[in-house]
Amino acid sequence: MEIRYIPDGTMTERQQKDVDIINDICLSGDSDCNEEEFDINTYEYSAPEDGMYLLFDGDKAVGRAAVHKVLTEYNGQEYYLGGFGGLAVLPEYQGKGYARKLAEATLEKAYEIGVDVACMEVDMDSGITDLYQKLGYKFLNRPAYFINHGNNEVPDDKVMIKGIRNNELANEILTTNYKFHYGKSLGHW
Ligand SMILES: CC(C)(COP(=O)(O)OP(=O)(O)OC[C@H]1O[C@@H](n2cnc3c(N)ncnc32)[C@H](O)[C@@H]1OP(=O)(O)O)[C@@H](O)C(=O)NCCC(=O)NCCS
Repeated sequence: MEIRYIPDGTMTERQQKDVDIINDICLSGDSDCNEEEFDINTYEYSAPEDGMYLLFDGDKAVGRAAVHKVLTEYNGQEYYLGGFGGLAVLPEYQGKGYARKLAEATLEKAYEIGVDVACMEVDMDSGITDLYQKLGYKFLNRPAYFINHGNNEVPDDKVMIKGIRNNELANEILTTNYKFHYGKSLGHW
């Protein structure tokens, strides 16, 4: 088993087919993680460093986690928001620590590409938020805002935050009440 980073725009047709299968099996049933509904893959803005970690069994991709980075601002302070989205491992490979490995790899990549603060929409009913807490994420106890494809700003009250390069800012976001948003591009992750 091997985890590799695939920068945006370099995924092969075979890898994309495998990712589509993973998305269908693992992410399509859960609206909180549904790529179609929330357009994780079609998130409008893509930083040059964005990409996806794939977990390979031989040449077959069996797990995935996208890496995001976008310039936004909090209380007038510009910073890079990012982190991972759409974490999924095919059922037959689950329970072996691969999701944790994918998540850890994305957080290292986020640091490397200059993400200040990581955030992510989560399924509150899923026990997987325990893993995110173990990785250092904390619940944002107020809505986060993003622009949907109707061009409306909508709230999302199921978001977790983690400091990557700027722990102080992450802490400020968690403990103050200014509007937290994903920035001007459409979508969220
Ligand atoms: C969630 C998912 C990615 C976990 O994959 P996995 O490879 O089985 O997870 P791991 O084996 O790496 O487990 C990592 C940790 O999370 C815990 N965990 C995994 N799935 C869990 C669940 N459903 N409930 C509670 N804890 C869970 C494990 O106990 C483990 O804890 P540890 O590191 O302290 O031992 C996988 O079940 C999946 O693809 N689910 C469907 C998609 C999904 O829900 N994605 C997340 C939200 S977008």
